[in-house]
Order: sequence, then structure tokens, then C-alpha cells
Amino acid sequence: MSERTVMTVVSFINQKGGCGLAATTCHFAYWLHQKGKEVAVIDSDAQQSVSRWLTGMESVIQCFVMHDPDQLMEDIPKVTASFDYILVDGSAGITEATRCILLRSDVVIVPVQPTGLDLSSANDAIRLVKQAQSVRGGLPKFHILLNRVVRGTRLYSEAVQFLQDKHMLKTVIPQRQAIADCFGQKSVVWTLPGNESAKEAAKEFEALCQEIMEVVTP
Ligand SMILES: Nc1ncnc2c1ncn2[C@@H]1O[C@H](COP(=O)(O)OP(=O)(O)OP(=O)(O)O)[C@@H](O)[C@H]1O
Ligand SMILES: [Mg+2]
Repeated sequence: MSERTVMTVVSFINQKGGCGLAATTCHFAYWLHQKGKEVAVIDSDAQQSVSRWLTGMESVIQCFVMHDPDQLMEDIPKVTASFDYILVDGSAGITEATRCILLRSDVVIVPVQPTGLDLSSANDAIRLVKQAQSVRGGLPKFHILLNRVVRGTRLYSEAVQFLQDKHMLKTVIPQRQAIADCFGQKSVVWTLPGNESAKEAAKEFEALCQEIMEVVTP
């Protein structure tokens, strides 16, 4: 395998589970692969959701399962030598593994659901990112993704207000049945049999992936 001169590690982390770490990792991996990029995923979640999701889809995207903090510290750089992009699916919780991932990432995305509890957990993740930034001279870059929103609700507008000065991505992903269906259907939103919800979700994830890409390669 050839040595890469440019490689990027993009991680998805949060303290709170169920916020869409696996879903966003899988969709961004699929999108990069469709663009012809050499992409691999590091699955650090004990549930191995991303590995099972990609295997279910019969995807050729390579997936490396790593939970051990020492292994994450030592092996992420080895994997980056062979790919353009490495995506790391974090496990829920602020663990030693999460700290190691932050020390090895160029960009961190923190998916957050718009509820009071989730927003306060996001603060803990942001604190951890800032600690890593202070050690690493500003890296990793980080952005918050508001996921599972229901537009027009008070929770949504309060979440936007809370996050507006906290590096929130412009794209937000609504709560959609089509997104929830993806794992069981062995799909991502772009490969789901078309209904209106799937078509809308496909546009939203396209916008999200483009925006993450702008952050990754400004
Ligand atoms: N915007 C959304 N709309 C509907 N369902 C969603 C959305 N985002 C994620 N989901 C679904 O919610 C469930 C949890 O999402 P996911 O597994 O991506 O979260 P996670 O943060 O990795 O959770 P865990 O704590 O279990 O590791 C999955 O079934 C996923 O398909
Ligand atoms: Mg997960």
C-alpha cells in the first residue's frame, strides 16, 4: 500500500449515546467512498454498530475494530498511512479511549440531540475537545451536529440558541423514520427504496457531508 502525504482523521464522539454517532459515521464513509476516496472506519463502539452496518450493506469499506486506548493511540497513525480518510466512530461516554481519539483526530464532530440533558452532555464533550486543543496547539477542529430535530418545536429553537456560538454546523438532520430504517434495511439514505422521507433524508445527508468536507478541507 502506498504512503499518503495527506490524510485526515475525522471522529464522531459524544458522552451521550443514541445521538447518531454510528449513523453519521456510516453515511459520511459511504459518501466519501462514492466520491472515490480511500476511506476506512475505526469502530471503537463495543456494540460494533458501524461494522455490522457496513457488513450488512456488503460495503467494501474497510473497518477496524479498536476499543483499547493504547491501541487507538498507537494504531490510528498506522491506519492513516494507507487511506485518504479515517473515520472514527466513538463510543458513548467520556472515556480514556475518547481522549486518545481526540489526540489522534484532525476534525471532531459531536452529534447532539435537541434535549436539555443532551445539550448539557455536549458541554462535557466540548470541554474534553478544548483540553485536547490546548495540548495540541488548536487541534482537533470541532463542530456540533444537531441531529434528530423536530422543526418548529421549542426544544429545537432552544437547542439552536444554546449552540449558536458553539461551532454548530449549518446543516441539521431531522428525526426521520427513513434514517431509523437504514440499519435494518442494510442501507444508507441514498440506497433506501424511494419514498418522500428517504428523498428528503438523502438531500439532508448530502448537505451534511458536503459541509463536513468543507470543514475537513477548508
Ligand atoms: N436523525 C435520525 N432520525 C431517526 N433515527 C435516527 C436518526 N439518527 C440516528 N437514528 C437512529 O437512532 C439509533 C441510534 O443511532 P446511532 O446508533 O447512530 O447512535 P449512537 O450515538 O452510535 O448510539 P450508541 O450510544 O448506541 O452507540 C439508530 O437506530 C439510528 O439509526
Ligand atoms: Mg454507537
